[in-house]
Amino acid sequence: MADQITSVPAAAAASPAKRAAIALGVTVAATAAAIFALGDAAYLWVKAVHVIAIISWMAGMLYLPRLFIYHCDAPIGSAQSETFKVMERRLLQLIINPAMIVSWVLGLWLAWQADFFSSGWFHVKLAAVIGLSWAHGYFAAAVRAYREDRNTKTARHWRIMNEVPTLLMIVIVMLVIVKPF
Ligand code: HEM
Repeated sequence: MADQITSVPAAAAASPAKRAAIALGVTVAATAAAIFALGDAAYLWVKAVHVIAIISWMAGMLYLPRLFIYHCDAPIGSAQSETFKVMERRLLQLIINPAMIVSWVLGLWLAWQADFFSSGWFHVKLAAVIGLSWAHGYFAAAVRAYREDRNTKTARHWRIMNEVPTLLMIVIVMLVIVKPF
């Protein structure tokens, strides 16, 4: 069963660095094309794509620690454990990593366009997004640890870590919508 899941199409088998470069290149090219074709209206289109990328990033960041919780109960070497490894790797490499790159590139472009770099709410949002990116790196390291059967963290630890992206998301969305200061 795990063998069936590990047979991936050629495009999906590209290295993580190559996929990240593709995500970055496509985002920059699409943003440049939108600016060229749409002029001032590009801002709202880019913001829409930013929100779509954020939804994908957050979906992965909320689901990955749930997988870690279930993975804790799967004995090392079992078919279940091998299946979790594939699910975790695919979620990270195919969804979470590209979505984070697109979110950052478009978010920084929006901030530059609207001149938000001197706004107080934006500084706090940026700090919260850096926190979210740290959690992303922490989860990526856990995917590697599980893949090499050396996870030492408990299901309780992953239940607590599961709340980190949720709390940061609440802060970020309130800041960017309300812009209280
Ligand atoms: C990765 C770094 C990020 C940067 C640099 C960034 C920056 C920005 C900027 C400058 C805007 C435009 C605000 C406006 O036009 O009023 C925006 C919109 C938005 N961002 Fe981000 N953002 C980032 C990540 C996130 C994250 C992680 C979330 C949610 C968890 C998020 C949620 C939103 C939402 C909901 C909007 C639309 C707000 C509105 O139109 O009122 N952003 N972002």
